Amino acid sequence: MPDPSGFDAAHPPTTHIVATVNGRKVARTVPIHYRVIDFVREELKLTGNKEGCGAGECGTCSMFVDGTLIKSCLAPVQKIHGRTVETVDDLDADQGMTVIQRAFHKCGASQCGYCIPGMVMAATSTLRKRPRASLDEIKEGLGGNICRCTGYQKILDAVAMARDVLNGTRPETDLEEAATDSFIGSRTRRLDAPAKVTGAIKYAADLWMPNMLHMQVLRSPHPHARIQRLDVGEARAMPGVECVLTCDDVPGVDNFGVFIEDQPIMARGMVRYVGEGIAAVVAETADIAREAVKRIRVTYDLLPGVFDPFEAMKEGAPQLHGFAPGNICKHTRIRKGDVEAGLGEADLVVQETYRTSALEHAYLEPEAGLAYLEPDGCVTVMSPSQNITHHRHMLARILGRPINKVRMIMSTVGGGFGGKEDMLYQGMLALAAIRTRRPVRYVFTREESIAASAKRHPFSIDYTMGLRRGGLIVATRMIMVSDGGAYAMSTPGVMNKSAILGPGPYTIPNVWVDAIGVYTNNTPSGAFRAFGAFQSEFATESHLDLCAERLGMDPAQLRRLNLMQDGATTHTRQPLDRVAATACLDAALAAARWDPGVPHREARGEPARIDLGGPGTRAPCTLGLGTMATDKETT
Ligand code: FES
Ligand code: FES
Repeated sequence: MPDPSGFDAAHPPTTHIVATVNGRKVARTVPIHYRVIDFVREELKLTGNKEGCGAGECGTCSMFVDGTLIKSCLAPVQKIHGRTVETVDDLDADQGMTVIQRAFHKCGASQCGYCIPGMVMAATSTLRKRPRASLDEIKEGLGGNICRCTGYQKILDAVAMARDVLNGTRPETDLEEAATDSFIGSRTRRLDAPAKVTGAIKYAADLWMPNMLHMQVLRSPHPHARIQRLDVGEARAMPGVECVLTCDDVPGVDNFGVFIEDQPIMARGMVRYVGEGIAAVVAETADIAREAVKRIRVTYDLLPGVFDPFEAMKEGAPQLHGFAPGNICKHTRIRKGDVEAGLGEADLVVQETYRTSALEHAYLEPEAGLAYLEPDGCVTVMSPSQNITHHRHMLARILGRPINKVRMIMSTVGGGFGGKEDMLYQGMLALAAIRTRRPVRYVFTREESIAASAKRHPFSIDYTMGLRRGGLIVATRMIMVSDGGAYAMSTPGVMNKSAILGPGPYTIPNVWVDAIGVYTNNTPSGAFRAFGAFQSEFATESHLDLCAERLGMDPAQLRRLNLMQDGATTHTRQPLDRVAATACLDAALAAARWDPGVPHREARGEPARIDLGGPGTRAPCTLGLGTMATDKETT
C-alpha cells in the first residue's frame, strides 16, 4: 500500500545544500527531510559528532552553525544552506588537539567517549563566549549535555584547566603527561583518549562500507500473540528493497541464549513482549527499509499476557515456554544449617519486603552493527557486544556454519553497563550479509533501544532475620522473586549471583536463600551492572539498618560484629583466607566521619514513623498495568 502522505522513500524529494563545513565548501543534493546531523554524518561521512537521543536531550550531536552551538539532530538541513558549519572532526584544523581536547585528555575526562565530542563542542562554545567563565558559567554552558559514565567532575576540571591555560594563568606544560616511575598510584592516560576527545574513534553507527545496505526491523506491538499470518510480499516488492528476512530464513538452530536456549533471532510463530523483532528489511537506504517495514502485514491472534512474576507462577497463568512449567526460568537455592531452629532461638526476628524496579541502562550509544562477508565466505559482525566469544558461538549455531566462518569484532562501546552483553540483533545482521552478499548496517533509534533491549531485573525480596539481643545474626531467610521477562537472557546467572552474594559478607550459621527468576510478557531482563548483587545487597543492607534500629544499636557496630573474618567460610562453602571487610568498614566510617547518633525512636520505645511507606503515603505508580485485549488484530 502506498504511503497515504504521498512520500516515496525510494525517490524522496530532495534539496540542494551549499555550505562551508570545517573550512571546505561542499555542495550536495540530499533528501529534503534530512537533519543537519544526517547531512554531516551520512552525506559527508564526518562521524565525530554522534547521535545519542535524536531528540535534543543529550547534546552528543552539538556542532556550530555560523559560530552558534546547535543540536544538529533537531535542525533541518536547510538551516545550513549558505552557512558555515564546524564539527568536532576538524576543530583544530588538522593540527592535532585543541587546548580543550588536550585538557579533557589530561584530566581523564572520557570513559566510553560517546558524549565527549558533544562535551568538547559545548566547552568550546562556553569558553569562546566567556573566556574567563566561572565554574557556574561552565556548568551552565555544558547544561545541555549528558554523560552516562565519566561523571561530570573530570569534565568540569578539564574545562577549568583549559580556560586557565588559554588565559595564560596556567602554563601549557600542565597539559602534558607527568613523568612517572610507576603507574601504580599515579594518574595514567587512556591510550584511546585522543581518539575519543577528537571524535576520531569509530563506534558501530560510524562504520561505513562501499555498497552498504541498511536494515530496519518490524517489532511486535503486542506482549503476547500468536502470529497467524506474516505477509512480506509488498515490502519485498518495493524498489530499493534487497530482501526481507523472517525466521524462515534461519539456516541453523534458531534457538539461542546465554544460559537457556529459548530465543529465536526473530519471532517464530509467537511474540512474547512488546518490541520483539518479527521481520528484518534490508534496503538501499534506511528510509526505504523503514517504509518497507510499514508495508509488512501481520495478523495476530492476541493471547492473555502475564506481567507480574507472582501471577505468572500461579496455576492457570498463561505459560510462555513449554519447557518451563509455572513460568519458572531459574530457581537457585542455598541451604545452610537449620533456619527455622535459628529463628526460634533468636531474641529478635525482623521481617520486611524490599522491591527494586526494572531499570534502563540508557547508554548514550544506541545499539548498532555492521556485518559483511569476507572474500573467503567468513561472515563478520562488528557491534559493541560485551560478550563476543559467546556471541560468536551462538551465531555459528544460528547460521549453521563452522566457527571459523563466523567472526565477531567488538566495536568501541559507547556505554554498555551490561546491556550490550545479551545478543539482540547480531543474528539478523549476519543473516542479511550472507543473503545479500553486501555489507549491511543497522542502527537502533533511541525509542527502539528502550523498547527492545533488556533491562535490570526487578526484584521482590522477602527478608527474615533472627538476631541475638547483642546483635549477633543467627539466621537469615531471603526469598527473592524476580521478573525475568519474556526470554531468559542472563536471568539464570543473575539469580545465581543474587543468591550467592545475597546474605552479604556476614557470618551467619543458618541461611536459606531462594532466588526465583520468572518468565513474564515484559521486556526481557538481562545483565546490568552488578548482575543481581545490587538488588539482594540493597535488601540486606537496608535490613541490617532496620535490625539496628530495632536493637537500638549503631548500624556500623552491628555490621562490625557480624562481618566475616580471616579464615571464614562463605554461605556457599568457599573458604576465605584473608578478609579485609572490617578494615574496609572502618576506613569508610573514618572517611565519612561516622557518628552513631542517638538510638532510633523504636529502640527508645516510641512508635514507628508513618511517613515512610505507611498509611497516608502515596501509592506506587501503576501506569501500564492495564489488561490486554484478547481479540484477533491486524496491523
Ligand atoms: S541532542 Fe542530538 S542526539 Fe541527543
Ligand atoms: S564518557 Fe560520557 S557517556 Fe560515556
